[in-house]
Amino acid sequence: MAKQRGLRFPNDFLWGTASSSYQCEGGNTNNQWSRWEQQGHILSGETCGDAANWWREAEHDFNFAEQMENNALRLSLEWSRIEPREGQWDSAAIDRYRAMLLDLRRRHIKPIVTLHHFTEPLWFVDRGGFAQQKNIRYFIRYVRHIVESLYDLCDFWITLNEPNLYAIVGYQLGTFPPGEQNTLRTLHVLRNLLQAHVEAFYAIRSLQPDAQIGYCLHYRLFDPAFFFSPLDRSAANVQSEIFNWTMLQAAESGRFAFPFNLALAAVPHAAGARDYHGINYYTREMVRFDPGAPAELFGRRFVRRGAVRNDPGLDNTFGEIYPEGMYRILKMVYQRTRGNKPLYITENGFSDSVDDRRPRALLEHLAMVHRAIQEGVPVRGYLHWTLVDNFEWNQGWQVRFGLIEIDPETQERLPRRSASMYGEICRANAITEEIVARYAPEALESIFGVSQDAQSTVTAS
Ligand code: BGC
Repeated sequence: MAKQRGLRFPNDFLWGTASSSYQCEGGNTNNQWSRWEQQGHILSGETCGDAANWWREAEHDFNFAEQMENNALRLSLEWSRIEPREGQWDSAAIDRYRAMLLDLRRRHIKPIVTLHHFTEPLWFVDRGGFAQQKNIRYFIRYVRHIVESLYDLCDFWITLNEPNLYAIVGYQLGTFPPGEQNTLRTLHVLRNLLQAHVEAFYAIRSLQPDAQIGYCLHYRLFDPAFFFSPLDRSAANVQSEIFNWTMLQAAESGRFAFPFNLALAAVPHAAGARDYHGINYYTREMVRFDPGAPAELFGRRFVRRGAVRNDPGLDNTFGEIYPEGMYRILKMVYQRTRGNKPLYITENGFSDSVDDRRPRALLEHLAMVHRAIQEGVPVRGYLHWTLVDNFEWNQGWQVRFGLIEIDPETQERLPRRSASMYGEICRANAITEEIVARYAPEALESIFGVSQDAQSTVTAS
């Protein structure tokens, strides 16, 4: 038999999944998302309920991660459980997280812990949340409490998940709580989140000097509808600059770019306040210049006709599956940060309830990660969103990102084909031709440049 080709990843590459507390734990009514549900904002009318039941039984699902030979797992801590009322710490909540982290470590899975993944205790929200600069101190106090309590079990922290998305959907688009549509407020929230990250970074650094500390941003590709149209190109650029690069650039330098710097004060000590860049990448949108759309910055976004798509979700948010975007984003982040820190893919995934696009999509995205690594981009890990189906914010259970399917009624689990495929990749630390041929032969050509027919002749001989 001819020698099998393979894309091998660096030794010590981190392979795992990513998740968040509110989406998985269940049984929590003390944060703003629970209130948001009660106010009837979930498009499906559902409530989070038991979610994936992790507060009681996360370990059950960690078992799947172990079976897939993952060596990392990203989860978040729920501030609203740890400090249910201002200044009151719940030691039982900390004990529960200790048990989860210990369980992971026993399985040789490195815990990667996010300190803020969209949710906050109601008392913090009622004080104005991150729209108020003076509230940052509450977050820092919580961060210190966590690190003092858990530093022996975790040395890889993500301070904030996607501050850019959090600010835009909560304060500009109004589809996430607090449901505002206020540009100035959006900008202040962005700035305050950056300050919160920087202060959290130095607080953790002083408590645990060897820890890896960073944050992750949500990156999307914005491409012009018509490549040769200068108007489409500049409309796409504007979207990309604002969504993708404003926060990164501010985090790198401490200063927001013009014109945002007219409204936003610089954040001292921001430059240098990270040990890695966390990258969450899902999709791309096409942009057409539209003089009638000032609210969308004169750029109408849409999904390319003929694109391979995610299940779209109730408000059509989940668009194109575009593997090359992974490579392009990795290269751009690397260039824009002048290669100053390693990169981790802290989220990437697909909403595909029947799992007929995920295997190929996952393989092709990983091939793009590999390509970037070959070209010198220091990517150190890949965390797939997500291990088990979970409660997808304002879409409820209507989109399914899990490698493992869940029936929320019965809490039964059913691993999708992608789960066994991902397990094989993690075990091999490589994408082999054999794995591709078995799970998504139609991707042989894009990944190895071999046609499906040629491959069957090779393996048969
Ligand atoms: C968020 C996750 C979410 C995922 C899929 C990311 O922006 O961090 O919490 O479930 O996208 O929508």
